[in-house]
Amino acid sequence: MDPVIIAIDGEASTGKSTQAKKIAEKFDYNYRDSGAYYRAITLYLIQNNINSNDNISQSVLNQISIEQVYKDKKLSIYLNGNDVTQKIRGFKVSVNVSNFAKKPEIRDFVYEQLRSSAKSNSLVIDGRDIGTVVFPNATFKFFLLADPKIRAERRHKQINDKSVKLESIEEEIILRDNTDSTRKIAPLKKADDAFEIDVTLLTIEQVFEKILSKIKSQ
Ligand code: DC
Repeated sequence: MDPVIIAIDGEASTGKSTQAKKIAEKFDYNYRDSGAYYRAITLYLIQNNINSNDNISQSVLNQISIEQVYKDKKLSIYLNGNDVTQKIRGFKVSVNVSNFAKKPEIRDFVYEQLRSSAKSNSLVIDGRDIGTVVFPNATFKFFLLADPKIRAERRHKQINDKSVKLESIEEEIILRDNTDSTRKIAPLKKADDAFEIDVTLLTIEQVFEKILSKIKSQ
């Protein structure tokens, strides 16, 4: 049987990874966080003083090895053998990642990783272009969106750090969505055949129920 691919695309901070993990648990599939690849690459390039305006050569990309391990409901990200799971969520990576993610050489690198993961595994993958570009024939496609204010409030609670202002999180989210949806290559947009869910007024469980009932009805 061909592997099942479930694509969870959508705007920043709409709970895509939470939903993707819940679906992976439910069906005992593997999980990949495509944004974490872009974040880990961004971390590596920042650490090596490479700018998003620079051309990223194949020899630089060849020095980057990223592994995602999903075990016991937890995703760990390794960059060249080091656990960077927390580090890639930092502000510096968050504000730079969209500019690196625009670059075709970086996108090709990530596509290769994602497609090879899907060769032998049924997968749930969250991202921006999974249902449109990476796996246009995905078995199920979902697209999550929400009011930026609500997204910022939820993220702010999650970060639980009073020194980080709610307004700066909201600004970062809006800016990132704008960069992601206006880029030329693989912009953030709903696939025509994706099921859209506005999560603004929904709890995690309510979103999950909508996703499950859609999967069961298909
Ligand atoms: O899902 P995330 O917020 O961790 O993603 C970080 C950034 O990576 C996002 O702002 C844009 C980029 N990204 C992308 O371009 N394509 C994807 N499929 C996933 C993420």
